[in-house]
Amino acid sequence: MKITGKELRQKWLDFYTSKGHTDIGAVSLIGDGSTGVMFNVAGMQPLMPYLLGKPHPAGKRLCNVQGCVRTVDIDSVGDASHFTFFEMMGNWSLGDYFKKEKTAWTFELLTRVFGLDKEKLCTTVFAGNESAPRDEETASLLIGLGIKAEHVFYLPKEDNWWELEGTVGTPCGPDNEWFYPLDPEKKDPVFPEDYVEIGNDVYMQYKKTETGYEPLGRGNVDTGFGFDRMLLFLNGLSDGYMTDLFTGAIAKLEALSGKKYADGGENRRAMRIIADHTRTTLMLIGDRCGILPSNVGAGYILRRIMRRAIRYCRQLGIPSSAMCEVARVFIHEVYSEAYPLLREKESYILEEIEKEAARFEATLVTGMKEFEKCLQGIARKNEFMKKQDPAYIDETVIGGKQAFRLYDTYGFPLELTEELAAEHGLTVDRVGFEAAFKEHQERSRVLAKGEAKGGLESHSEMAIKYHTATHLLNAALKVVLSPDCNQRGSNITDERMRFDFNFERAMTPEEIKAVEDLVNEKIKEDIPVVFREMSLEEARKENFVGVFDSKYGDVVKTYTIGDFSKEMCGGPHVERTGVLGHFKIQKEQSSSAGVRRIKAVLE
Ligand code: ALA
Repeated sequence: MKITGKELRQKWLDFYTSKGHTDIGAVSLIGDGSTGVMFNVAGMQPLMPYLLGKPHPAGKRLCNVQGCVRTVDIDSVGDASHFTFFEMMGNWSLGDYFKKEKTAWTFELLTRVFGLDKEKLCTTVFAGNESAPRDEETASLLIGLGIKAEHVFYLPKEDNWWELEGTVGTPCGPDNEWFYPLDPEKKDPVFPEDYVEIGNDVYMQYKKTETGYEPLGRGNVDTGFGFDRMLLFLNGLSDGYMTDLFTGAIAKLEALSGKKYADGGENRRAMRIIADHTRTTLMLIGDRCGILPSNVGAGYILRRIMRRAIRYCRQLGIPSSAMCEVARVFIHEVYSEAYPLLREKESYILEEIEKEAARFEATLVTGMKEFEKCLQGIARKNEFMKKQDPAYIDETVIGGKQAFRLYDTYGFPLELTEELAAEHGLTVDRVGFEAAFKEHQERSRVLAKGEAKGGLESHSEMAIKYHTATHLLNAALKVVLSPDCNQRGSNITDERMRFDFNFERAMTPEEIKAVEDLVNEKIKEDIPVVFREMSLEEARKENFVGVFDSKYGDVVKTYTIGDFSKEMCGGPHVERTGVLGHFKIQKEQSSSAGVRRIKAVLE
């Protein structure tokens, strides 16, 4: 390796801190609902309010390396360059410096720190349209720095404009993208075919509106360089699974399966999928706002990722416990320094992976039989129809209702059914599946709208109530059992809540009753739930409950319920506890070693 992941991370942060930036650390991967996006999909996402003008407690120059989860391309994972989790190296000017400094610093970083040849660098700038002018200013700054004039290209909005798709009221603007030849030895490379994009500087001067764009009245800079991609490129590699982020995981899968990654083909594809999906799984469960697999919202996305990985373990001929072993490699050898919480939550993460694998495997065999029946049904129909009409064209689509049944009864994510179908030359009626899914959701009043479409989260009234109830429960456990009891995870549907916390033994019936009584007492008191944003430091001083693993400068959302509960949390919550009704614990059981699980309802 010419440069390791650890070195690259440090070089980025060192360079920008040397230019007066504060390293603000990474925030949770789980969206807080404020942008309507389920996961963090870009480094700038948590900084949106500050790009729009709100003062950031850490100042006007910020940098970090931020994890992101994007699952839109999940079907492409398995090739050399697609991942569902990746990190973005970012830095920002919040109305401070602008194009002059930014072009100079990116140029300096690429040429001096990373040793790229300025003669070979190519860049693209915005060609201009009715919303924003042609970016000649950036172009001439770049040429002034030593980039060849013929290496600066003007491109239209499709290429050189950055915004968070599907949102309104968010900052955006023209960008300046940086490229380098994929093979630096190649004579006369042609742009863009022979180049790889290594990152971009967005000049965020606009705000997206319902109908177009309006000037923000100040110039921000939003820089994003893909960490995984940069690592690949600086090492002269073209396979994203060959960097030191993945070599340990791949070696583990080779050892377990007795197969060789280098042999390529389906086995290599399976190894990549298992490695990528396992990494995303551990990052989501091990996150400070960690989630668990479920059938709604972000939990459903996680379930799909996990089940896809498990299926490829089977294909590779290894047990699903391989996921745990791979997860351990990632945690210990790759991410424990950058994400210390992963070590702390390690046994929880591994046990949750095991549980999901057990759940899935219990239905996989019967589900496969059901799938075979679908195949036979189609074959029979085709045979029958052909007898009636020799010109009949074979049915090649598995019905949406059947796919939904496989999902609902046997836990087959749609992608799994689609992949199995493809192995038999068939497709699945996706629209029909989504219709059946919606119908089911409405029937069961599950309002996690839109996730089948891929990404938007909504909070039903009931889910919001349950969410507030978890805060009361968390506080009550500390009073009744021990101040050391802390939340380990939670899972909410419209029908019930599940709450995991650390505690060494089963609760007694008296303790369960005492917790219930205390929560109900606080509901009766009809206490206002007060929202306040503050710095992490302040939250720490005021003894808010939550995970303090990020750095100074982070702004956190907090919710206070009288003098009973103080938690850092993204919300949303009810306005007063009185609306929660009656709280009842239905079950208290072991969840994993040292972790208990409570199932409770609001009646
Ligand atoms: N927000 C820009 C990106 O995600 C930097 O590429």
